[in-house]
Amino acid sequence: MVSRVIPVEVFDLVIFGGTGDLARRKILPGLYRRYLAGQIPENARVIGAARTDLDDAGYRQFVNDAICEFVKSSKHDKAHIDAFVSHIHYLPVDALGDAGWNELAAMMRPDVIRAFYFSVAPRLFGPLAERLHDHEIADGDSRIVVEKPFGRDLKTAKALNGVLAESFDEKQIYRIDHYLGKETVQNLMAVRFGNILFEPLWNSQYVDHIQITVAESVGVGGRGSYYDKSGAIRDMIQNHLMQLLCLIGMEPPSEFEPDAVRDEKLKVIRALDAPDPKDIVRGQYRAGDDTASYLTDAENPESKTESFIAMKLGISNWRWKGTPIYLRTGKRLRERTSEIAVVFKDPPHSIFGEQEGRRGNVLVIRLQPNEGMNLRVTIKEPGPGGMRLIEVPLDMSFAEALADGDDIPDAYERLIMDVMRGNQTLFMRGDEVEAAWAWTDPIIEAWESAGKKPVEYDPGGSGPDDSLMLLHRDGRRWREIKA
Ligand code: BG6
Repeated sequence: MVSRVIPVEVFDLVIFGGTGDLARRKILPGLYRRYLAGQIPENARVIGAARTDLDDAGYRQFVNDAICEFVKSSKHDKAHIDAFVSHIHYLPVDALGDAGWNELAAMMRPDVIRAFYFSVAPRLFGPLAERLHDHEIADGDSRIVVEKPFGRDLKTAKALNGVLAESFDEKQIYRIDHYLGKETVQNLMAVRFGNILFEPLWNSQYVDHIQITVAESVGVGGRGSYYDKSGAIRDMIQNHLMQLLCLIGMEPPSEFEPDAVRDEKLKVIRALDAPDPKDIVRGQYRAGDDTASYLTDAENPESKTESFIAMKLGISNWRWKGTPIYLRTGKRLRERTSEIAVVFKDPPHSIFGEQEGRRGNVLVIRLQPNEGMNLRVTIKEPGPGGMRLIEVPLDMSFAEALADGDDIPDAYERLIMDVMRGNQTLFMRGDEVEAAWAWTDPIIEAWESAGKKPVEYDPGGSGPDDSLMLLHRDGRRWREIKA
């Protein structure tokens, strides 16, 4: 296969929060994997910045350890790791004080792309942006990368956008939603807009309903205090599931350009109906045989925060009016599995009799595990004995279809390289984030004023029974949660 990867120019990437968890688990291992793929230019530098007192050697050891822990062992070649860490530097910097800023300014090279990854608590976004600007560390072509949570409601998101806008142009701001970096998510756009096959059917005339499930088997233990202030609505629905919904629902953009794509996504968010409270199910997991309850994990016995949500939504536009979208996400479910299922309507009439041949097609886009797509079609069961119809999958598993398919790049490494290429297509624009909060805020406010506790559900299953009822009462059913 001929590689047509777009080359990246020489860069200096400064990671604020360089000793933090995200850097250790995702950013640094991801950069190493891109290095192995030959995509890190020879003179590129990665500069860790944090309050910890370290030098280059100490941070290189930290990076070495992160690679050994989070990159699969077949890629632990010492010569490669050594060569990669020679790109790594470290500078102690205090986001809220003066320490380190003059040194960082002195380190910057002219004519090199500068990117600053804010892998820190959101309260530090403003001070970091200000200092980069005041010390003239960032130039007009510099990029900043910010992580979720991007605000906790419309007001705080607007304030954050305002603070960043004082020092940076929107074209310089890369708001990460790592779901947009997942291989299958991009493939969704390729399948929708690269084929004639699906688009004519992609509307309420032919699509019965859409299901988006992001299920996790883990609980919130370890990050309970953060999670308890967010819940599934802020942690997953407002961002990850909303983004998936946008890509599924949007009109074809006129070109595959950042603003063309983001304009269309924004229109979907703005056309989303406010859900009816009876179409929302909130759950909290109980204790299992050897797992703690949500209340224990969250260290808050009175908590009314949900670790599970299922909801039915409508989109009020010509394409989707009348096609319900069901979203579901939760912790401590049976498996870690994420998928989007587009369930087409049954054929209007069966020439094979009512029992046969009236099953609609289902297109399943699997985000994880086993990334791929699968289209359920009806065929005749081979062999004699009359016309017996069966359903078979037309399966496109990426692991089988790609040469190095078991090694699909992680979302983060793809997104970081897009920052270096200056491509914002897979990043959220400020107005998108605000529109998503504008839709989410009234839902949360209604819960808060009602003050109701979420219903309990058993760990290791598919969430509360009420969520099954959400579809049953419409004569539909959720797809099974399975890996
Ligand atoms: C994060 C959430 O954004 O996404 C986590 O804060 C969640 O709670 C995670 O576990 C899921 O991401 P992935 O890529 O593992 O599906």
